[in-house]
Amino acid sequence: MNNFEYCNPVKIVFGKGQISKLKDLVPKGAKVLMTYGGGSIKKNGAYDQVKAALQSFDVVEFGGIEPNPQYSTLMKAVEIVKKENIDFLLAVGGGSTLDGTKFIAAATKYQGEDPWDILEKGVAVEEAVPLGDVITLPATGSEMNGFAVISKKETTEKLAFASPAIFPRFSIIDPSLTFSLPLRQVANGIADAFVHVIEQYATRPFNAPLQDRQAEALLLALVEEAPKVFANPDDYDVRANLFWMATQALNGWLNVGTLQCWATHNIGHELTAQTGVDHGRSLALVLPGVWRSQRKEKGEKIVQLGRRVFGIDEQDFDAAIDATIEATKNFFKSLGIEATRAKYGVTDEVCQNVARIVDSRNAKFGDRANIDGAKIIEILNLCD
Ligand code: NZQ
Ligand code: ZN
Repeated sequence: MNNFEYCNPVKIVFGKGQISKLKDLVPKGAKVLMTYGGGSIKKNGAYDQVKAALQSFDVVEFGGIEPNPQYSTLMKAVEIVKKENIDFLLAVGGGSTLDGTKFIAAATKYQGEDPWDILEKGVAVEEAVPLGDVITLPATGSEMNGFAVISKKETTEKLAFASPAIFPRFSIIDPSLTFSLPLRQVANGIADAFVHVIEQYATRPFNAPLQDRQAEALLLALVEEAPKVFANPDDYDVRANLFWMATQALNGWLNVGTLQCWATHNIGHELTAQTGVDHGRSLALVLPGVWRSQRKEKGEKIVQLGRRVFGIDEQDFDAAIDATIEATKNFFKSLGIEATRAKYGVTDEVCQNVARIVDSRNAKFGDRANIDGAKIIEILNLCD
């Protein structure tokens, strides 16, 4: 196992009615900026509950953070934080609202000229305004990690940054808020969580049996629970189980001391920047292409996954890889995600653009850093 340090400081407050605890979770006397997205929180009751819980606080609001949060929007919030002397940020919404708020927190304290450098040049974030959240969409795991993904439509970019300074101080997860989610978003979230686990697992044999088994437990649980949410969308326990799975899928536990391959995410982010395809759907499209292209490098873990998660008992190595890819695609289909390039507007031109952009950054994706622009085109040609 590789050496590692692990610290996850996020306090999770889970369950029905937990928003009322905000009054004790937000630091006493703090002036709060409450951030949210396009208005879902006003329909599902989260907004009213937050306002009621924070009655005794001075709260300024900033709405309109888009899915795939935009740099230009977030910079408007940074101005407000500075002007209003805000000392605590509270994100109420999905991963986009929370990621956007993490960026606002970091950009407010940024000493350089342009906070976009945090994303483009990887400038380290040492300090951020403290933040917490009420997360309303099970998908990203952002509620329990120190990552954020920000988009800039002017330059067709979608980039991630990480810092211990942007871990939420607390995350309230009330699964009953997810009853209002369109099933399309439920499906996106399950696909996202599933691929988060895969990116920390499907690398190469690494003699980390506990991490392997933890990943397989999560994948199995997702495969078992997913059909239940479509059959019984009003079942609280199913919603609660799915949320906790999504949170655990990217809170750092699974990858301690091992390898990770974020190629599917890296390529998926580029596709979203180019075409606007939903994050979860971009992953369902790209993953089969990554596995087909990297079958020699990833074969052993793909076969192990097929055997342990999907019960595939095919003895021939290559046939077992193909069967696992098929089973994974069928799982996405069972969520209503029939991912094809044509459906998501991933034309040859889009593929060329992605390859060019990635090469211009000198980026190489994957745990072996062996995926460059040419490989990305090969992968995208193997997706359907
Ligand atoms: O904007 P509002 O009106 O709130 O509506 C949102 C949005 O339209 C809606 N929604 C959220 N909660 C709802 C709800 N509608 C009804 N009821 C609810 N309870 O759902 C739509 C999508 O929301 P969004 O926040 O964009 O989705 P998600 O949570 O999937 O976040 C996606 C973003 O997170 C990034 C993605 O790249 C993308 O930008 N990721 C962040 C990661 C992280 N921080 O660790 C890791 C992931 O791999 C991912 O890259
Ligand atoms: Zn993701």
